[in-house]
Amino acid sequence: MPETDPAPLLVVTGGAGRIATFYRRWLAGQEDGAPASSPWRIRLVDVRDSPGAMPGDEVIAGPDADMADLANVERAVVGAHTVLHLAADPSPRADFYASLLDRNIKATYNVVHAAVGAGVKRVVFASSVNAINGYPSTRQARASDVAFPGNVYGASKAWGEAVCAAFVAQSGGSFSAIAIRIGGVTAREAVNLEVTPELQALRVTYHDLSRLFDKCLTGAPEVTFAVVNGVSNNRYLRMDLEETRALTGYAPEDDAFALAEANAARASGA
Ligand SMILES: NC(=O)c1ccc[n+]([C@@H]2O[C@H](COP(=O)([O-])OP(=O)(O)OC[C@H]3O[C@@H](n4cnc5c(N)ncnc54)[C@H](O)[C@@H]3O)[C@@H](O)[C@H]2O)c1
Repeated sequence: MPETDPAPLLVVTGGAGRIATFYRRWLAGQEDGAPASSPWRIRLVDVRDSPGAMPGDEVIAGPDADMADLANVERAVVGAHTVLHLAADPSPRADFYASLLDRNIKATYNVVHAAVGAGVKRVVFASSVNAINGYPSTRQARASDVAFPGNVYGASKAWGEAVCAAFVAQSGGSFSAIAIRIGGVTAREAVNLEVTPELQALRVTYHDLSRLFDKCLTGAPEVTFAVVNGVSNNRYLRMDLEETRALTGYAPEDDAFALAEANAARASGA
């Protein structure tokens, strides 16, 4: 019998986090609307234990998984085809020296640098709406807008976008990267009316974000470097999706405004 090639390896940094844990279930076909099969072998990397690991996954946890240390990252990406870089401090209030410098600045440099060194084809980087929320909230942001962070966490995400771009520019076409400016990630059932319309307009459900990850990880083969917007198909879009849809084929299915109304009606027994 001829041996079949193993599935390509997807390394997920921040593999213990909320987004990674949901996406792991999505890839396993355990969430509503998820594809029936996944093209990947999975390696989850996180300083914490990854509770969402599935049988057959590789898991790197503990101090050896600290992405602020380049040698750790070089080991973590060996053999990877693609990297989904989620590890970070996700708080807009995070302190620079106490947290962001290691978790968002050094870690992201290390991941992209090591990925290129290991021959990884693409890095998909979890950027944030905080990279552009220095613009007035009444202005719809386009994916092609230059970064205008509203806080230092957002500046760390703008740094990540720039690092991705720099390594793509130097790679001569062998490496590509997509940075996703992710909005407020919310479970469908937790979307509520208790936020301003501006914040509702920034929401992305875990389901839609997973759809966008799928597109960025396995599609858009012509993209060398791009920034895309990660929000649901909200009635009002604080971040425009036209460029994102055109580049990646992203087709979000949720509308945070409609979900909020439906959840409120259900809660009131209507
Ligand atoms: N949750 C959101 O609404 C949101 C919005 C925009 C962007 N993002 C981005 O998405 C990514 C994932 O967010 P999340 O909500 O799942 O966050 P999370 O805090 O649940 O997960 C992040 C994980 O990264 C790990 N981590 C942090 N520093 C690390 C390091 N140096 N080495 C190894 N592991 C490290 C943490 O242990 C944690 O498990 C982050 O990059 C975040 O900035 C999240």
